[in-house]
Amino acid sequence: MAYEMIEVRTEAGKVGIVTLNRPKQMNALNNQLMDEMGAALKAFDADEAIGCMIVTGSEKAFAAGADIGAMATYSFADVYKGDYITRNWETIRSIRKPVIAAVSGFALGGGCELAMMCDFIIAADNARFGQPEIKLGIIPGAGGTQRLPRAVGKAKAMDLALTGRMMNADEAERGGLVSRVVPLDKLMEEALGAALMICDYSQIAVMAAKESINRSFESGLSDGVMFERRIFHALFATTDQKEGMDAFVNKRKAQFKHQ
Ligand code: HXC
Repeated sequence: MAYEMIEVRTEAGKVGIVTLNRPKQMNALNNQLMDEMGAALKAFDADEAIGCMIVTGSEKAFAAGADIGAMATYSFADVYKGDYITRNWETIRSIRKPVIAAVSGFALGGGCELAMMCDFIIAADNARFGQPEIKLGIIPGAGGTQRLPRAVGKAKAMDLALTGRMMNADEAERGGLVSRVVPLDKLMEEALGAALMICDYSQIAVMAAKESINRSFESGLSDGVMFERRIFHALFATTDQKEGMDAFVNKRKAQFKHQ
């Protein structure tokens, strides 16, 4: 597939990188861009050689939100019949390998929601997060009212969604939205370092960890722990578990086969 609104590349043959590329519109997210991103992530997910993905934007903007110009004239019939957001934004939720959001600049509205759909967020020190939809007469529509309070708690989520203010990278890290903050010029190095580290582990264990942590948002503690326990037990059937533990016992580096 030829992409117009994203750039796609791989690093070291094992990290798939999607760069949002609508610089004049601050990477505003329209249907074509979301179709392209979904297709690229699915292709990486299906590629045996890829162990981890990174979604990133530009220095100025990860993404300044859903494309307001495109949305401005949508009717209820358009969004309901067209299954707006659900149809293509949700693709990222079906990706089974880890997806890291490397965020610099603005991550607003749908941009913040897209970052939160990724598995974790590494932020540059110039990152600014917010859910300013209230200023447009709408509310977050890609999971922001659900994922933001889970990440930063009710107080900060309400503050952000009701006032439309932005928070900087330090506040986002203090609040638990982002896992690390790094200088802008180190953002991709940091994200790539994390991705390469993940690629070296057993892909089965990595996918199982992602699946289990995501499960914690969908279930009560007992059911979640039981889900984890069953997957934990199942991992003893993998070659990688034998390799990982044998490598530790014999003081050598594990060579995982993802089997
Ligand atoms: C369409 C956008 C855009 C957006 C910026 N642009 N954000 N176009 N949709 N979300 C365009 C501007 O119109 C402008 O185009 C160009 O990008 C540069 O933006 P400026 O405003 O001139 O830059 P600046 O003054 O630096 O301000 C940056 C900004 C501001 C703070 C990010 O652009 C802004 O507030 N943008 C809107 C943020 C927002 O409300 N996001 C939520 C959208 S609703 P021109 O042609 O004039 O140069 C949403 C719904 C989610 O996301 C629900 C479902 C996903």
